[in-house]
Amino acid sequence: MKIDQKHKNKIDMEAIAKSTIVASENNNSLKNNQLQITYKKAPNSNLRNVNFDIIRYANCWEDAELLIESLKPIAGERVLSVGSGGDNSFALLAHNPSVVTAIDINQVQLFVIELKKQAIKHLSYTGFLEFVGFRHSATRRQYFNFLSPYLSLPCQSYWETNFDIIHKGLIYSGKFEKYLLAFGRKILPLVVGKKNMKKFFDIKTAEEQADFYNKQWNNLRWRTMFKLFFSKWIMGRFGRSPQFLNEVQMNVGEFILNKTENHLRNVKSQQNEFLHFIITGEFNELLPYYARPENFENVKKNIDRLMLHHGYIEELFAENMHFDCYNLSNIFEYMDEDYFRSLSENIAHSLKKGDRVAYWNLMVHRRLSDSLPNDFEYQQDMSERLTEVDKGFFYKNFNLDIKK
Ligand SMILES: C[S@@+](CC[C@H](N)C(=O)[O-])C[C@H]1O[C@@H](n2cnc3c(N)ncnc32)[C@H](O)[C@@H]1O
Repeated sequence: MKIDQKHKNKIDMEAIAKSTIVASENNNSLKNNQLQITYKKAPNSNLRNVNFDIIRYANCWEDAELLIESLKPIAGERVLSVGSGGDNSFALLAHNPSVVTAIDINQVQLFVIELKKQAIKHLSYTGFLEFVGFRHSATRRQYFNFLSPYLSLPCQSYWETNFDIIHKGLIYSGKFEKYLLAFGRKILPLVVGKKNMKKFFDIKTAEEQADFYNKQWNNLRWRTMFKLFFSKWIMGRFGRSPQFLNEVQMNVGEFILNKTENHLRNVKSQQNEFLHFIITGEFNELLPYYARPENFENVKKNIDRLMLHHGYIEELFAENMHFDCYNLSNIFEYMDEDYFRSLSENIAHSLKKGDRVAYWNLMVHRRLSDSLPNDFEYQQDMSERLTEVDKGFFYKNFNLDIKK
């Protein structure tokens, strides 16, 4: 069979994409560990075969500033927040709530959060930045030995067995971070070149930025490789989990490329910490909200108000657990429509008038106020305005609903 050049290029790129990611796959599974974690059966059938014993997210990949601006947490309020890498639960702590409960079904994510929590509590600001990997450090073992007595026994045991993750830098360790880093280290130099990668964050005017993207960055190899790397198949297996995309109907690569192009043409992308991580492999000076010098001391002051809860969020709503505001990340899009509808009813039942619920849709439309318009009021202006400035530029939209 004759293979034309265009087709051959595609095959070569596919081979590069796969080998790049396979080489960087996670090896931090609990299987090497003494710990045995028993999981409850997933109430959502889409999540039945998901592996929840690895670090999937070492950071939160949702823009904390949107949560702060939309939820406007008031001192003394109670907050429920999806755990993930913990960052956004820490960010909410900075606003003096009486409690932030970080919930996750993945016990290892809670180990990540517990370790960060004790590091925030007991280390200096510089010590914290060094320990978790924002800054270089040759003394992470000493930091860990100092923090270890403050950890719960299962958490201590997990990190003793997996100390290598801390040694290499906790914030680079999730499956999702490794996937993004593989893109920045192995793919981007091939398609746009190292020189352009360096120039991306040079200060430019709005016009120069658009020009730079259009003329220096945007070529066929970039678009082809991007769509392949962020396709449903590759991202599903190597970046996230295929089950997380069960409900996605669109062309994933095409969608994310469109969102990314709009962002890269925009001069604001120079100030985006997520993009710094992807392109340079580090956050550099643009730290996530909770780790910024102006927020860190407030987070530290309130750190004992952070509670960790292992389980499905559905269980809390089924028990009518009440909070004043909610960060629900993008959990709804893992659910089929019937399941989402019945969870919406439980949420409506648990909430009181005026409670605020913030969440993202990455690629699947799931909105409480559409599902139950008599119970929730969609905050259209706020949601659309914040979607516009979302540094998580790959999300379809950000939503704020208020309980009627
Ligand atoms: C919703 S994921 C989103 C991460 C990122 N935005 C993405 O789309 O890849 C964040 C965290 O939520 C947890 N999670 C997902 N569904 C959950 C549920 N129903 N109850 C509790 N935690 C859940 C996952 O284990 C993960 O650590």
